[in-house]
Amino acid sequence: MPSNVELQEIAVTVARRAAVLAFQRRRDGVEIAASKSSIVDIVTRADQEAERLIRDAIAAARPRDGFLGEESGAGEGTSGLTWVVDPIDGTVNYYYGIPAYAVSIAVVEGDPDPATWTALAGAVVNPETKETFAAAAGHGATLNGTALHVNLDVELPLALVGTGFGYDPEVRVRQAAFVHQLIGQVRDIRRAGAASLDLCSVAAGRLDAYYERGLNPWDHAAGALIAAEAGARVGGLDGTPAGKRLLLAAAPELYDRLHPMMQEYFSAWE
Ligand code: IPD
Repeated sequence: MPSNVELQEIAVTVARRAAVLAFQRRRDGVEIAASKSSIVDIVTRADQEAERLIRDAIAAARPRDGFLGEESGAGEGTSGLTWVVDPIDGTVNYYYGIPAYAVSIAVVEGDPDPATWTALAGAVVNPETKETFAAAAGHGATLNGTALHVNLDVELPLALVGTGFGYDPEVRVRQAAFVHQLIGQVRDIRRAGAASLDLCSVAAGRLDAYYERGLNPWDHAAGALIAAEAGARVGGLDGTPAGKRLLLAAAPELYDRLHPMMQEYFSAWE
C-alpha cells in the first residue's frame, strides 16, 4: 500500500498533465460534445479528453485501483482504493473563458461513496492561474508547496461565504431561497462556479465558508480533503459526512454558527 504522500504525488502529476491539456484545448476553441441533466449542463470535448488522459495515466500507475469519473462513470478495482475525478470542474466557466475551472483528482479508500469513504489524497489544479492545491490525509494541505490554513475566529456577520447551484431549475430556486435567508447575516456571498476551487478557497482563507446542496462526489472529493487538512470542519446534514444533501466547510467556530441554519432549512426541504 503506498503512503498518502505517494498517492498525493500521483494525483498532482496526473492533474497537472490534464490541466495542460484543458488549457491548450481552451485556446484552440471549446467544443460542446453533449449536454447532460439539462441544456445548461454541458460536456465539452476537453472534459472527455482530459478524463481519458487521467483514466489512462492512473491505470498505468495503479492498475488495481478503481475509478469514478464525472464523464466516464465507474470502473471497479481490486485494491480497495478508488480515484474520484472531475476532469474539468467549472465547465461553464471553462466554456465562457472565466479563469476559474480546475482538474480535481482524489483517491479514497472504501466504497466510492462520500458517506463512508476515507479520502487519502487529492489535488486540484487551476490551469489558468497555475495553482496546484494538494493534500495527503494527516500531512496538511498546500498551495504550490506552501502550507494552507483556514481563517479562524471569523464572526458570522464578517464571514465571506461561497456557494453554488445545481443545474435543475427547480432545485436552483430552492437553493436561492436559502441565499435570501443568509445574505443579510453575513459579510457577502460568492458564487464562483467551481466547487473544487471553492473548497480550496476555504483552505487558502479566500473564503471563510463554502456550502452547497446537491454536489456529486467528484465535485468535492479532493477539495473537501484539502479544506479539512487546512483546518476546516467539513460535514453534511444530521451529523453525517458531507454529501449530496449538504456540504458545509468552514473553520469549526463558524461551522457551528452556520450549520444549524442549514440543518433546519435543508432537512425541511426533504
Ligand atoms: C459544477 C460546479 C459548480 C457547482 C455545481 C457543479 P461541473 O461542476 O462545481 O460550481 O455549483 O454543483 O455541478 O458541472 O462544472 O463539473
